[in-house]
Amino acid sequence: MACIAAGASLALLSVSARAADTSAAQQLARWSAQAGASGQAERGRALFSSRHGGEWSCASCHGEPPMTPGKHASTGKPIDPLAPAVNPKALTDTARLDKWFRRNCNDVLKRECTPLEKADVLAYLGGLKP
Ligand code: HEC
Repeated sequence: MACIAAGASLALLSVSARAADTSAAQQLARWSAQAGASGQAERGRALFSSRHGGEWSCASCHGEPPMTPGKHASTGKPIDPLAPAVNPKALTDTARLDKWFRRNCNDVLKRECTPLEKADVLAYLGGLKP
């Protein structure tokens, strides 16, 4: 609950800062509602940093914590930081988020992430502070 309350003020900030269709806080609320449970940052951090038996973790491309530009694990292309605290454009486009969650979860977990896993990752990313 504390995460959602903290997230709500973040949502207000981001709405005034730019014309994007969503925010980390709105997405956290969306996936927590679908999961029927609140996203937890600590679980999100664990998911983000572990390899789940495969070659890559989320951190392999995004870095850990993802507050500096990441680097694609196979192509070496730079990736903008995922943490909204350092990258105001992060997590602000629903279609883009859905696309990358699908793709990246398949790459790392060999399946779609569950709503609760997405909520956990968003709680983690939204809570990161420089
Ligand atoms: C093989 C490299 C790679 C791995 C592994 C990876 N990602 Fe990504 N991810 C990317 C790239 C590339 C983008 C697009 C970034 C860009 O255009 O700047 C992206 C984008 C995203 C976005 C959208 C960011 C936004 O602002 O809309 C999210 C969320 C995301 N990744 C989460 C994850 C999570 C969670 C995992 C682990 C399950 C993960 N990623 C693993 C490469 C990766």
